[in-house]
Amino acid sequence: MKMIVAIIRPERLQFVKDGLKDIGIYGMTITHVTGRGEQMGLVFTTRVGKFVVDEIEKVKIETVVEDDRVQTVIDTIRGKAQTGHPGDGKIFIMPVLESIRIRADETTG
Ligand SMILES: Nc1ncnc2c1ncn2[C@@H]1O[C@H](COP(=O)(O)OP(=O)(O)OP(=O)(O)O)[C@@H](O)[C@H]1O
Ligand SMILES: [Mg+2]
Repeated sequence: MKMIVAIIRPERLQFVKDGLKDIGIYGMTITHVTGRGEQMGLVFTTRVGKFVVDEIEKVKIETVVEDDRVQTVIDTIRGKAQTGHPGDGKIFIMPVLESIRIRADETTG
């Protein structure tokens, strides 16, 4: 199993969730976060000078999936979240040792 962590634009969240539902991915954790990437935020130039916003609002999606679903999930998130402009986000993949359902005696991994 792998945990896929995707940081995306908030306005793309519904689109990504719908895309994941279409490929049978239902379980996920969604957190509203702030962060910065390579550009270290945004610089605004006004008449009174420049100011920097170095924490931009993003949404973090965490979903744990079987290894054979990883590429499909990445492709779906990418397809639904991409605008082609800086700030589209990042996807990270991590190994997961076990997944335990609390309701029943059920362990995967
Ligand atoms: N190296 C990183 N580690 C952890 N989180 C990151 C990293 N890079 C980006 N992020 C997260 O992803 C969000 C979006 O990053 P962003 O899309 O700007 O990445 P980027 O590498 O600058 O790519 P781009 O050039 O397309 O903007 C950030 O606000 C931050 O939350
Ligand atoms: Mg960036």
